[in-house]
Amino acid sequence: MLSAIPVLAVLGCAAQTAASKASYRYASVTDNYKGQYGEVVERDVCVIGGGASGVHAAVSLKDKGKTVVVVERLNRLGGNTLTYLDPATGIPIDIGVVVFQPLPAVLRFFDKFKVPLANTSTLTANVPGQPANLSVPAPLYQTIQTYTDLRDGSSVNITRDDLAIGPALAGLAAVMAKYAYILDDFQALPHPVPEDLVMPFGDFMTKHNLTAAIPIVFQIGQGLGSLLQLPTLYVIKYFNLGDVTALREGYLTQAQGNNSLLYTRAASYLGPSNILLESTIISANRHSNTPSNRAELLVFTPSGSGMRLLSCGQILLTIPPTLSNLAGWDLTPDEHAVFSQFTGATGYWTGLVRGVGLNQTVAHQNVAATTPFQLPVLPALYQVAAVGVVEDVWWVKLGADTATLPDEQVKARAVREIQRVQVAQGVEATEPEWLVFDSHVPFMLHARPKVTLTRSKQ
Ligand SMILES: *[C@@H]1O[C@H](CO)[C@@H](O)[C@H](O)[C@H]1NC(C)=O
Ligand SMILES: *[C@@H]1O[C@H](CO)[C@@H](O)[C@H](O)[C@H]1NC(C)=O
Ligand SMILES: *[C@@H]1O[C@H](CO)[C@@H](O)[C@H](O)[C@H]1NC(C)=O
Ligand SMILES: *[C@@H]1O[C@H](CO)[C@@H](O)[C@H](O)[C@H]1NC(C)=O
Ligand SMILES: *[C@@H]1O[C@H](CO)[C@@H](O)[C@H](O)[C@H]1NC(C)=O
Ligand SMILES: *[C@@H]1O[C@H](CO)[C@@H](O)[C@H](O)[C@H]1NC(C)=O
Repeated sequence: MLSAIPVLAVLGCAAQTAASKASYRYASVTDNYKGQYGEVVERDVCVIGGGASGVHAAVSLKDKGKTVVVVERLNRLGGNTLTYLDPATGIPIDIGVVVFQPLPAVLRFFDKFKVPLANTSTLTANVPGQPANLSVPAPLYQTIQTYTDLRDGSSVNITRDDLAIGPALAGLAAVMAKYAYILDDFQALPHPVPEDLVMPFGDFMTKHNLTAAIPIVFQIGQGLGSLLQLPTLYVIKYFNLGDVTALREGYLTQAQGNNSLLYTRAASYLGPSNILLESTIISANRHSNTPSNRAELLVFTPSGSGMRLLSCGQILLTIPPTLSNLAGWDLTPDEHAVFSQFTGATGYWTGLVRGVGLNQTVAHQNVAATTPFQLPVLPALYQVAAVGVVEDVWWVKLGADTATLPDEQVKARAVREIQRVQVAQGVEATEPEWLVFDSHVPFMLHARPKVTLTRSKQ
């Protein structure tokens, strides 16, 4: 996946009208949990979520002299950025966020923490079939591409016209340029919403004669699921103009192949007293009937007494705004109505396994012989491929159109698909060892096209 500095708020219109509804009364957090939390944490801004957007926001706020606290569910900052460190060799392998578009904000952010970046177009990766260049980041390892249907391990003849991909990407860039405003925020959407943006992505690409680019958008846009049925808006917000340019001119990645370094340094900058890890909001009161007249959040956190009360000048929400993520929040009926319209989300899981025993110079791209554009049938691995920099270690990147698959089923499915390739290649089927596994669920929250059209009329 590619997300760099991701989108902050996705829908915000109803949240603004909510404040004017004075008739709602909420029990004060302090009343309900009196005496159960330690010292109150008072900050100008409480940032909910310690992924790329939360950390970037918190750092920028601190730079501007604001006091902040970041509340993060996991035991580390960085969200979808996760780096596996091979214990034997010390080689880092980024299994989440791999590359960044060369946006000014990205350059400034890495530069602030003296984390060096490399331009992927100027790195000398190995020649496919040759051993990995150990001085370039693991994800740039080049393999010989073959095409396999991972439903049965059979090899598939590809009918794509490679020469058409470049012109189709250029054509896609030209159409996307007309809608560049969606990269800032959805509030810039005009009314009526252009037909192009709400039509299913497959229809959009057919309409503009750009279907030759679909397989590459599918690969680069990992996590978008089957993508042909998704409203175009979501697809071209994720795989955007910057990606078309970066595919040509290079992305940026951490020079030593360790994107997590950015978040370790950012964490030191913010300071441990301003970061609550393994913490979740269990109750919220944002409606000014608190003793201090400030918003209050009650946080369940492992340190100290197990609970902390945050007193916040403002709250910045950077987590996916699903109703389950917001359980315990004092949502107004309007907010509830808006957030419940995220009826769709895709699934994306990543990891590494060891002990596959296949030929490490050959990657098996997942495709299907007879589906539209030969896209694979999800849920499935995107490919069976070795990392190259460490012996017999293999990528796991699995996508689904829903966010509901349990982790154990995802892992079992990944192993089954690897085993099908093993059997088809005449190699002994193994039970590979999991080195690391990460869920990025829920990925790509989306509303139905009809909802997108209606909301924008307000
Ligand atoms: C490996 O990559 C480094 C950095 O890009 C480059 O200087 C070196 O020449 C490469 N080695 C080989 C054998 O290609
Ligand atoms: C793929 O193409 C080759 C050469 O055209 C042909 O011999 C082979 O049978 C095809 N394989 C499949 C699975 O269609
Ligand atoms: C559609 O694109 C293909 C190249 O991908 C081109 O050969 C063809 O002429 C185009 N058709 C139209 C109607 O523009
Ligand atoms: C990366 O290198 C390419 C040339 O190979 C250049 O066109 C591009 O501007 C460079 N990107 C950055 C961010 O420096
Ligand atoms: C990569 O970053 C992680 C997290 O900051 C750190 O623990 C690890 O030592 C780094 N590894 C290398 C090889 O730089
Ligand atoms: C791996 O595959 C490559 C490309 O087909 C081949 O040249 C090489 O001999 C294979 N290696 C082994 C160990 O079979």
